[in-house]
Amino acid sequence: MEVVILHDPAAIAAVAADAIEDLVRRKPHAVLGLATGSSPLGVYDELARRHHTGSLSFAGVHGFALDEYVGLPVGHPESYREVIRREFTDRIDIHPDNVHGPDGAADDIPAACAAFEETIREAGGVDLQLLGVGTDGHIGFNEPGSSLASRTRIKSLIDQTRKDNARFFDSIDEVPHHVVTQGLGTIMDARHVVLIATGAQKARAVRDFVEGPVAAICAASVLQMHPHTTVLIDEAAASGLK
Ligand code: F6R
Repeated sequence: MEVVILHDPAAIAAVAADAIEDLVRRKPHAVLGLATGSSPLGVYDELARRHHTGSLSFAGVHGFALDEYVGLPVGHPESYREVIRREFTDRIDIHPDNVHGPDGAADDIPAACAAFEETIREAGGVDLQLLGVGTDGHIGFNEPGSSLASRTRIKSLIDQTRKDNARFFDSIDEVPHHVVTQGLGTIMDARHVVLIATGAQKARAVRDFVEGPVAAICAASVLQMHPHTTVLIDEAAASGLK
């Protein structure tokens, strides 16, 4: 695991965008793993900017979302399908059919999760997975106690994560209790993982997953076992490191 401490979120976004641009130029049919939440927004802005001002094309790229809420009506502005469309894929030239996500509205959620895993496999696997990290160390929505070998499945959100995400909704009562998320085993299959964390509220999670033991209580710690993970953090998020 390579940990890079940068001075501000703009520098972090630029480094992450460089990694994605290098990949897409080398491999025009690259497969990107897309996170939601606030951490990757600067990266999406930077990639959209490079697309509009330069020759960076995503026409051959496939994108796979990490997770989705269960129980939000299709088209809800805070469903992750809509967030990824609004924040990223509508701003570039990726083909809409090449953007996939776990289906939180399926009648048969286990079958939909298995089909999602199969779609990732058919696309050739994820080349670069962008991640944020929760204050409890979750990646995707793999909350503390998630199996380190898990695959895409339904999970419950813990109260802290619902509180953390209430800022995207009118009230905490609107934050769903359940999600479908890529598992830790699914995330570990990505060839390169780029995790972004900024701000003092992430310092404890960063300390735990970078310097703590590999343990299900801190899901992101599984990345210590990943052959190519880049952690991009600012000084506040790094403040708990030894
Ligand atoms: C989002 C996701 C979550 C977030 C995490 C951090 O798709 O899977 O793991 O990355 O909750 O969220 P932010 O970036 O909003 O602090």
